[in-house]
Amino acid sequence: MDRFLLFVSYFIITLALTRAQISTSDFDENNNVEDILNKTYVEEQTKLQRAIFKDYNRKLRPIRNQSLPIKIQIHVYIMHFSVDQMQQTILVNGHIYMVWNDEKLVWNSSEFSEVRTTIAKQWELWQPDLRVANSVSGVNQYFEISKRSHASLTSNGPDSTKIEVYPTFSMKIGCQFDYSNYPFDQQQCALRLYTTNRMNEVELQLYYNLNPSVLLGWGDDVTKKHIGEWELDSVTSNMTYYRNRNYYSERPSSGGEAEQSWSMVLTWISLKRNIGLFWVALALPSFISAILNVFSFFMPHPEHAIFLIVANFFMQSVFLQDILTRLPPTVGSSPRIVQFSSLLLMLTSLALCLQLWIKRMGDTKQKISVEAARRMGMFLVVLAPMKKSQISETVEKESDDATKDVEELPDKALVVRNLCFVLYLLVVIFLSAFLLI
Ligand SMILES: *[C@@H]1O[C@H](CO)[C@@H](O)[C@H](O)[C@H]1NC(C)=O
Ligand SMILES: *[C@@H]1O[C@H](CO)[C@@H](O)[C@H](O)[C@H]1NC(C)=O
Ligand SMILES: *[C@@H]1O[C@H](CO)[C@@H](O)[C@H](O)[C@H]1NC(C)=O
Ligand SMILES: *[C@@H]1O[C@H](CO)[C@@H](O)[C@H](O)[C@H]1NC(C)=O
Repeated sequence: MDRFLLFVSYFIITLALTRAQISTSDFDENNNVEDILNKTYVEEQTKLQRAIFKDYNRKLRPIRNQSLPIKIQIHVYIMHFSVDQMQQTILVNGHIYMVWNDEKLVWNSSEFSEVRTTIAKQWELWQPDLRVANSVSGVNQYFEISKRSHASLTSNGPDSTKIEVYPTFSMKIGCQFDYSNYPFDQQQCALRLYTTNRMNEVELQLYYNLNPSVLLGWGDDVTKKHIGEWELDSVTSNMTYYRNRNYYSERPSSGGEAEQSWSMVLTWISLKRNIGLFWVALALPSFISAILNVFSFFMPHPEHAIFLIVANFFMQSVFLQDILTRLPPTVGSSPRIVQFSSLLLMLTSLALCLQLWIKRMGDTKQKISVEAARRMGMFLVVLAPMKKSQISETVEKESDDATKDVEELPDKALVVRNLCFVLYLLVVIFLSAFLLI
């Protein structure tokens, strides 16, 4: 028991000593420790803030040598996006981290009991006037980037102070989407940030040349990359410089060029479509509908075949309607699935006509002509297999006395039907390979 008490008291004393060391080691030895401890931290902060904002004018660029630009480092965090494919816009939410040095908002930390950091309201300071060039609400939209966040001030010494702000933003940007490769399309859209000042006054830079951070989910969802139908493929950043109505990728080298340039931070958002439901909802029904056309030529009774094709027509009209409401507006050439559907509708109409023709030929019991039989030759064996033996005999004998054996020639309807079956099968395989996959 005694040992335990001894241990506990030893522990408490050690703890108290280390804490005392930490709290005093922060201060300069010359300072009157009692004086500092007498004041609370908040009091010190208010005194500091009063002192630094006394002669501060937030309208002036906070740099001593006014012929030098202020360099603003920018890093974009993307927290959410949503795509409107009909209007071709992306709504992006997140925040922008900005850091720069302020040479007017300075203090000597030795005079303020070594307080090096403080917080201020963003609107109290000079700050770059950031705009979005491709915002759908116009470039003069004021509320997209919040002006009400806090700024954190860290003293670099008595000559400059590092300012960090993290305003949130929510902006809808206009994009140029191309859907011709639907549903395998990839879209790229850039968020264009610039300041109203020219480059000789304010220059935007990428924070350590980092790509933007994406944080669409929390906890177990940090790797989440898709929202709705779209998956985030990549997000990258680069700079561009606007001068004389042109965009340049090189930074202006001379001061004269900088006077006529604006720096712009581009955040490129690449999106890929999530095609999970495409195969089940669009491709498979279209393919089955195409196969139904082929099978209609497999049916021995033309009535059944006509019935099947009419049913297929209904299926497609209901189904095409569904596709059209689901599809993005066509910009450029139409998506392949739309081309497939329209060709399918044409093939189905053609199949209906062919079936009616076949039915008529069947009703009047027409036989193929001897001439045609000779031209087709061995193909007839495949096309009219039911009379295989007869055909081969007929075709061999046909040169001697053709007219006598007309009765033994195959039905024209049967030959046409089988020919259509083969042709339709080939066309469907061909179209599916090129337009569906
Ligand atoms: C400490 O605070 C008390 C009461 O606020 C004040 O009377 C005293 O002068 C202060 N001491 C110093 C060293 O500032
Ligand atoms: C301000 O910066 C310019 C350009 O670097 C330099 O030529 C000039 O001497 C500087 N002025 C002062 C007062 O430091
Ligand atoms: C900062 O304040 C301390 C204490 O008042 C003073 O000794 C020092 O010279 C000051 N430094 C500058 C750069 O003004
Ligand atoms: C910026 O990146 C995009 C996408 O990677 C590219 O298309 C564009 O040409 C780049 N611009 C510059 C100025 O490097």
